[in-house]
Parts: sequence; structure tokens; C-alpha cells
Amino acid sequence: MEPSLSIPLKLYREGSVTFYSTDLEHLERMGLSYTKAPVFYNPRMKLNRDITISIVRSLNVESAADLMAASGVRALRLAVEGGVDEVLANDSNCLAVHVIKLNARLNGVRIRATCSDARLEAEKLAWEGNRPHYLDLDPFGSPAPYMDSFLRAVRRGGLLGVTATDTPPLFGIYPDKLFRYYGVWGRKLPFHKEFGIRALISFTVRVAARLDLIARPLLSYGREHYVRVFFSIDRGPSASSRQLRGSLGWVETCDGEHVIHKGIDLPDAECGELLGPLWLDEITDPQFLDGVTPINEEVERLLNALREESGGPPLYYMLDDICSRLRVKTPKMSDVIAALRERGYFAARTHLEPLGVKTTASRAEIEEIVREITAS
Ligand SMILES: C[S@@+](CC[C@H](N)C(=O)[O-])C[C@H]1O[C@@H](n2cnc3c(N)ncnc32)[C@H](O)[C@@H]1O
Repeated sequence: MEPSLSIPLKLYREGSVTFYSTDLEHLERMGLSYTKAPVFYNPRMKLNRDITISIVRSLNVESAADLMAASGVRALRLAVEGGVDEVLANDSNCLAVHVIKLNARLNGVRIRATCSDARLEAEKLAWEGNRPHYLDLDPFGSPAPYMDSFLRAVRRGGLLGVTATDTPPLFGIYPDKLFRYYGVWGRKLPFHKEFGIRALISFTVRVAARLDLIARPLLSYGREHYVRVFFSIDRGPSASSRQLRGSLGWVETCDGEHVIHKGIDLPDAECGELLGPLWLDEITDPQFLDGVTPINEEVERLLNALREESGGPPLYYMLDDICSRLRVKTPKMSDVIAALRERGYFAARTHLEPLGVKTTASRAEIEEIVREITAS
């Protein structure tokens, strides 16, 4: 007899929904990672879904699709908590789609569930003119191969939520892959997490421009193993030309100082290597943030952190990096930020790094402040 392997399902609860997915503890006991689950579910992405629900609920979205839906937890939450009438959940794993249907019945909601390739399904939505108001792009790894079809599929005036878990290329650890997937030159620098978010936005606005669309970043953040950006999508050939010229640009680091060159035209390098093209405008729109009502305290904390850093310059300096070069103990972040503000600079923490300082001051000025604080 052929040996058979069965992996039980378990009933989970997240937000206001109850759903079946692979029993992750059972999987772990078998020495398998959650990424090997026959039906995928990652409880660590709850905040990612909580923010999605906070946004969708605040905007009164009528139709939404998760074309890589796995267990369907996000689609279920969009229907139950997001108040979305028309929800589509698709996955290329037909076993997952079977479980999505089971989960929809369990929660008493109507979800259209299909088993297909996400790109085919997206192209179909665009072709039929049945574009959802909110579309979620949540792949294993890079969203880059899906971007064209997803941008075509989202309604004009709608929203695209993009998750990228391929942080090693985005953060410049694999520069070749960063260039191949995103068309951005980079390498790992102290501000690599924000660099990755800006590379993802740069890529998305350039793909959108090729389709005569304009993608505008509304809310961006990074956490654990992923970065996430919500974009508004509209038609706009001339607006997107202006956006490419005005909002993209290049970055250099000259002896640790950031040198920002705004504008898509390739500038003369001041001291070394030009990295980009990167998105150099705001990565989060404070007005958009004000319209989002957080569904819980964790979302509220993150939105507050994003609010605090908005209005600042691109990128950040790492305090530990500065202090190790100066051979001094790292002072309290709050003291450094207060001293910078006292001198009239914009200064704020970044949500991406506990020791990251976003400021309009130069690195030399931060060093001077650090010396003063640590000498006193
Ligand atoms: C990261 S999971 C999605 C998680 C889900 N959105 C959530 O919030 O729980 C990625 C899913 O994409 C599916 N997938 C991978 N490649 C796909 C493709 N080309 N088309 C459709 N689904 C795909 C996988 O089967 C997996 O279920």
C-alpha cells in the first residue's frame, strides 16, 4: 500500500472570523515550516490584515479581491469586518480554494472563490471590466512579476495593497536581483529598510506609468520580514509623466552623509555611486492617514508612528552607526531628537529601526549633538 500523509486542519480565530487552515503546530511537530503548509496561513501577518481592514472599512469599499487568498482569512475579514459586499478569493492551490469555500459557509458570507493563476484572474477582471475597488497583492516573495496584471485589474480611483517579502533584494543585500526585479540600483546601506520601500514604490509608479496609470503611495510601512505599501490607482498619462520627473531621483552617501538628487535625469555624482531611481516624495500621505480609523491598538500605534515621521526628509541615519564611529556610548534617542528640534531641524524616529533618526540635519550636525550629549 502507498504511504499516505494527511495534515489535519485546525479551527482558528482572527479578528471577527473563524476559519479552518493547516494545523501549524502539527506541521511543526513534523519538522516542517509554516511555509510548507498545504493551505497557507501566517498568523504573524495579522497586523498586515488588520491595517487592510482599517483602511477598507474607512473608505466604504464595495468590491475587493485577494487573488492569492490561501486559507481565505483576508477575504473573509474583508467581507465580515470590512463590510465589503462583493469579495473574490482566488488561489492557484485548488485545495486552498476548497477550504475557502468551507470557510465562507462557516462564516455565513458569500465569497466568490476561484482556482486559477492570479495573473490570469487579474487579466480576466480587467478584460471583463469587473475591476475591484480594493485589490490585494500578497505573493510568496516578490510582487514584481504580478504588478502589470494587478495594476490593470484594479478599478480607476481604487486601491492596490502590495506586500513584498523579498526583503533581501529590496534592501540591497542582493543588488543584482534588486535590479532585475525592480530596475533599481542599490546596495545595503544603513537606511536599507526605507530604501526597500522607496524602491518598491519607484518600481510600481514606473510600471503604472507604462500603462498610462498613476499610482500614488498612501501608506507605507515595514515590519519583521516584509514591507507593505497601499497605492491609489487612477488613469493619468500626463500626471504620471510629471510624477516620474518630479518624484523619483537618486541617492548617494558621501562619507556617511545622504546626498539626495531629486528628478529622474541622471545627475553628476558628488562622491561615488548613484543609487536609484528611488521614490523621493512622501511614502505616507498624512491626509490619508487622518481618514483611517484603526480597528485596534496595534494599528493605532503604527499609524501614530507613521504620522510622527511624515513630513520628514527621505531616509534616516542610524544612531548606533554614528556612535560606533565616534567611539561613544549611544545616547537616548529622545535626547538626540530633542536637541535636533531645539536647533530648528525636523527630527523624528522612524518606525523601521529603533535607532533610526529622520532629520533635516546633516550627519556632521548629528555627530556634533551626540558629542555634546555624551560629553555632558
Ligand atoms: C502569502 S500567501 C497569501 C496569504 C493570504 N493573502 C493571506 O492574507 O492569508 C500566497 C498564496 O499565493 C498562492 N499562489 C502562489 N502563486 C500563485 C499564482 N501564480 N496564482 C495564484 N495564487 C498563487 C499560494 O498558493 C499561497 O496560498
